[in-house]
Amino acid sequence: MEGIVLEAMDIAKGYGEVQAVRGISFRVRRGEVFGLLGPNGAGKTTTISMLTGLLEPDGGEIRVLGSHFTPGSRDLKARIGLVPQELALYPTLSGRDNLKFFGRIYELKGSRLRRRVEEALEMVGLAERGGDAVETYSGGMERRLNIAAGLIHEPELLFLDEPTVGVDPQSRNAIPESVEALKERGMSVVYTTHYMEEAQRLWDRVAIVDEGEIIALDTPAALIRREGTGMVRVRIGDGAEAPFSEKLASLPEVRRAYRRDGWFVVEAADARRAFVSIVEAAVRMDIPVGAVEILEPNLETVFLKMTGKALRD
Ligand SMILES: Nc1ncnc2c1ncn2[C@@H]1O[C@H](COP(=O)(O)OP(=O)(O)OP(=O)(O)O)[C@@H](O)[C@H]1O
Ligand SMILES: [Mg+2]
Repeated sequence: MEGIVLEAMDIAKGYGEVQAVRGISFRVRRGEVFGLLGPNGAGKTTTISMLTGLLEPDGGEIRVLGSHFTPGSRDLKARIGLVPQELALYPTLSGRDNLKFFGRIYELKGSRLRRRVEEALEMVGLAERGGDAVETYSGGMERRLNIAAGLIHEPELLFLDEPTVGVDPQSRNAIPESVEALKERGMSVVYTTHYMEEAQRLWDRVAIVDEGEIIALDTPAALIRREGTGMVRVRIGDGAEAPFSEKLASLPEVRRAYRRDGWFVVEAADARRAFVSIVEAAVRMDIPVGAVEILEPNLETVFLKMTGKALRD
């Protein structure tokens, strides 16, 4: 189909008893950054593995760049790139030599290989460190080199699986910046993460994945508009849970309240007002408040509201 670079149609995968992906469908448009957002174990990596031909789905169909796709589709695989969640780099080789190695896997050679290595280093901001051994790199630099390796053969569609995991917050920004540069060059990207900060800014559309299923799919702004709600989380001293729970339910500012992982999670149209009346109620009831925080509407609270779970534990 015109303008669609990837179609997943009801794909599923189980590992023995574990149904990791339970029939997922979505389409990625040319030039868009499409996000998969979900907690640990949601099935993101399993989905990406099927979409890049590393795993055969148990059911469903995949179309890549307009054609039926299976693990045997060699020509199509040459047109996609994968940046895996686990780093796959040779520590004793330089960044440049690592990229040459990956380029040769894609049958690049000679001047084209040399040009692509330099372009890929440039694109992830490692041109100056390309000659240094990877073992001297920071975690963030390793991640960026991993991305460069996935780009070396100029794929039309790039899969990034948790590209910022293990990267210190300081250099975490460099990765979304590299992805933005790729998008500007017209590349289509599928990007998984459970970090919100980069997701909201980068993604054109997002599929929220939970327990092997897509539970919502839209632009981040539309999801936040539709499902977003202010939230307050409160932790109180032991013993007063029952009366506090009852009190929360009776407050006019509170839309819904429930307990999760030792916290009271409160949904409210206006989180700031709710915050004030919750604290007032606790003080009046002489209940010690251990911690209380306001969560602004964002994809994290969308997820929390839809599943009752936090994205990161
Ligand atoms: N090789 C495997 N053998 C058995 N079970 C597996 C295997 N790989 C994944 N699983 C299980 O399948 C489910 C989905 O895992 P998957 O790695 O796809 O999730 P994920 O969303 O990528 O999680 P994370 O955020 O931790 O990377 C989990 O329950 C996981 O334990
Ligand atoms: Mg994963």
